Amino acid sequence: MTEMKAGSCAVVIVAAGSGRRLGHGVPKARVPLGADPLLVHAVRGVLKAGIATQICVAIPADDPELAEICRKLGAEAATAGLLFSVVAGGAQRSESVNAALAEIADGVATVMVHDAARPLTPSGVFNRVAGALRDGAKAVIPALAVTDTIKTVEPASLPATGAGVEKVVGTPARNQLRSVQTPQGFELETLRRAHAYALTLDDEAASRITDDAMLVEAMGEEVFVVQGSTHSFKITAPLDLLLAEAMLEGPLRPRWLEG
Ligand code: CTP
Ligand code: MG
Repeated sequence: MTEMKAGSCAVVIVAAGSGRRLGHGVPKARVPLGADPLLVHAVRGVLKAGIATQICVAIPADDPELAEICRKLGAEAATAGLLFSVVAGGAQRSESVNAALAEIADGVATVMVHDAARPLTPSGVFNRVAGALRDGAKAVIPALAVTDTIKTVEPASLPATGAGVEKVVGTPARNQLRSVQTPQGFELETLRRAHAYALTLDDEAASRITDDAMLVEAMGEEVFVVQGSTHSFKITAPLDLLLAEAMLEGPLRPRWLEG
């Protein structure tokens, strides 16, 4: 295993998902955004932020085109003095993270886990996460205040017809809710412990884990929050890609100032 400067930071970029909801019929990381695939934007965003000594990307096991994209990105990263590793991801996001964690170089102290599906994340977000880690946080996530009112619901039937609908069971106080993004930052040892703990969960419990911070919370560790960015939105559905394209290439581009 390559040795890194003690105390350095690695960034895991998870790019092994299928992109089912985007519906392009190819893994989402390979979908073009302007001139480049999403993964290229995500990796360049990490390089630009200047916070990492290693980038480890998890891609689908059976995708030679993404492997080739990674070969070129590896050369760019090497020019910038970074170690660049590529691993085969798994069927679940957490498996992809776990595979990447096995490749983190010796000497790395902190790790950020970032979605390839958030290609426009500004440097400021990476820097805020890095700052909180430097200030002693063992887990830190970027987040935004929620603007919609959020309800919890359960299955129900309409009184007259019995038609299946949902009904509200509660309304959490909005000022306490946050919408969570990536990169999520961790002390490496804490995240490794969290993923070892995830392996002990049954399938139902594992399916409720939607981000790395949840695992750390479940172990009783504090997870700190820093300000995210509206530009860090996740490309999930076609409308998200349209918005990202408009920000990067459309006539409104001059109004898009990096946040
Ligand atoms: N991801 C991954 N491995 C998986 C599933 C997801 O590396 N088995 C990554 C995706 O590539 C993405 C990030 O996790 O960068 C967030 O996941 P999501 O937005 O759900 O992407 P997909 O799983 O690709 O999309 P979908 O759920 O619509 O199929
Ligand atoms: Mg998914």
